[in-house]
Amino acid sequence: MPLVNAKEMMQKAREGHYAVGAFNINNLEWTKAILQTAQELNSPVMLGVSEGANKYMTGYTVVAAMVKAMIESMNITVPVALHLDHGTYEGAKKAIAAGYSSIMFDGSHFPFEENVEKTKEIVALAHSKGITVEAEVGAIGGEEDGVIGRGEVADPEECYKIASLGIDMLAAGIGNIHGKYPANWQGLDFEALAAIKAKCQGMPLVLHGGTGIPEDMIKKAISLGVCKINVNTECQLYFQEATRKYIEAGKDLEGKGYDPRKLLAPGFEGIKEIVRIKMEMFGSVNKA
Ligand code: 13P
Repeated sequence: MPLVNAKEMMQKAREGHYAVGAFNINNLEWTKAILQTAQELNSPVMLGVSEGANKYMTGYTVVAAMVKAMIESMNITVPVALHLDHGTYEGAKKAIAAGYSSIMFDGSHFPFEENVEKTKEIVALAHSKGITVEAEVGAIGGEEDGVIGRGEVADPEECYKIASLGIDMLAAGIGNIHGKYPANWQGLDFEALAAIKAKCQGMPLVLHGGTGIPEDMIKKAISLGVCKINVNTECQLYFQEATRKYIEAGKDLEGKGYDPRKLLAPGFEGIKEIVRIKMEMFGSVNKA
């Protein structure tokens, strides 16, 4: 199946009370592990690519070409969206031109009116090409690719205004943080989420910072309108842990254990394991 945008995925997730996982990719192994798991579990999936990861993989066109070709060569039949994660105004335009099927325009650090104006412009451009748009209100805490959020909780009134611009998904800060949650984290702000849901009737909501959020909070967030959950750090941690174990056990020194296809295999399986755990937790298994 060719790349799809996120519209139908989000509609079905909202009606079926589950969430689609958006997993960040960094290279071929990441992409292959996530696509393979989605296919095995018959789950829809979104591949998130930050601007930093796009740069690392040498450009938007390279990423789009790789993902499209892998979907074909791996016979992937579940719905896959290729989604720009935390796009700037310029990055969003590049991703649109390169053939991404979905983009996030993150104007949350702009003054609100500027966020509105730029989001409107990106929506018009993306929709003219059948590409879905996620917008953001209120910074999300933590650090990702050098972007430090303030951990704000979004204002439901601002959410309503941005949701009214014709966007397809809305990321609203509710005390979530990118990366590992600190021991003193207060948890998600469900009162804020309920207020946002009430204001933005029917708008699929996006939960960033999916790493380490306990299952009960994930389930409650889904019951309050969350249809897409972003996971990045946890795939990195599973990859790191499995790779470290392989090297610490001296496996890279045995036979051809230095072959990158062997060296990266445990980390690859680690990514598959955490993606499976998350898809089961989010309820997207067998929803393709
Ligand atoms: P984590 O790295 O905390 O899983 O967050 C991912 C994310 O929100 C990507 O936008």
